[in-house]
Amino acid sequence: MVTFTLNGQTQTFDGDPDTPLLWVIRDFAKLTGTKYGCGVAQCGACTVHMDGSTRRSCVTPISTADGSEILTIEGVDGPEAEAVKTAWVAIDVPQCGYCQSGQIMSAVSLLQNIPKPSDDDIDGAMAGNICRCATYQRIRQAIHNAAASMEG
Ligand code: FES
Ligand code: FES
Repeated sequence: MVTFTLNGQTQTFDGDPDTPLLWVIRDFAKLTGTKYGCGVAQCGACTVHMDGSTRRSCVTPISTADGSEILTIEGVDGPEAEAVKTAWVAIDVPQCGYCQSGQIMSAVSLLQNIPKPSDDDIDGAMAGNICRCATYQRIRQAIHNAAASMEG
């Protein structure tokens, strides 16, 4: 039996301990904002926060989540999350949208660690999040805007 919190609510899972966290989030908890892209930790569509750090949930066995706090796009909050969401909407970052929950989860984590990131910081933190619609310029701009909005 694996016990963890998902967006602040206690969850238990007693299936196969090798089940990917992404499957548990989408199929058991029915939270479908976190996406399946590649399944092999190469695209970032499945990014969630586990105990305050980004994790690729497609390659995270649920057994490793025991005792952890998991946040998904449906539950992430706090000043960085609010600033990122507002900045995303303000300049219409998404195109098809498929990659965007993963992008946002990575961007929030970046700002939690580096409140005023440089372009290099952004490129480094976001490198694992692929966007087939190539919204990279708007993602970078939105992160700068979110950082600026939290200053002072
Ligand atoms: S689906 Fe997990 S990194 Fe692509
Ligand atoms: S917005 Fe379409 S894949 Fe990123």
